[in-house]
Amino acid sequence: MAYAYLFKYIIIGDTGVGKSCLLLQFTDKRFQPVHDLTIGVEFGARMITIDGKQIKLQIWDTAGQESFRSITRSYYRGAAGALLVYDITRRDTFNHLTTWLEDARQHSNSNMVIMLIGNKSDLESRREVKKEEGEAFAREHGLIFMETSAKTASNVEEAFINTAKEIY
Ligand code: GTP
Ligand code: MG
Repeated sequence: MAYAYLFKYIIIGDTGVGKSCLLLQFTDKRFQPVHDLTIGVEFGARMITIDGKQIKLQIWDTAGQESFRSITRSYYRGAAGALLVYDITRRDTFNHLTTWLEDARQHSNSNMVIMLIGNKSDLESRREVKKEEGEAFAREHGLIFMETSAKTASNVEEAFINTAKEIY
């Protein structure tokens, strides 16, 4: 299909936060309950429409495990958008955001749009990170922010599309 623009995205964040599930929900409208550890990098694509213009999103889903960090770094090149994901039920994944952000800023284009995502919003009873904390971190670092659920699909479309709107 013809498209007016091609935007490359990279999805980053700790292992198990739901990066691959967010991508699967966005491209296939499915949820994978089992953690299929990503090895290296996986790829997905989908077309979206903004202001009547067709935009192709080319999405690189990276491995969160520390041992893959150097591979991840090589995928920042040319990315117009990044989804930086943490898990609202695991405070350690929120604590690691500063490190992820340093890595992203160091290896990407300076105008890359970064969307901070607090994922697993369906698990309210197990929440360890308040929504306000995510908002404050985003404000402090100039990021856009949303809470999502890759399980219920809540805000998943919006996260990918709002990032594109910032780039556009
Ligand atoms: P790596 O590939 O190792 O970096 O992990 P990842 O960030 O890709 O995590 P993945 O998408 O594989 O999800 C990890 C686990 O969390 C899986 O068991 C998912 O089913 C679960 N999960 C992901 N997103 C959600 C969500 O929004 N809600 C709930 N309840 N579970 C989720
Ligand atoms: Mg994965």
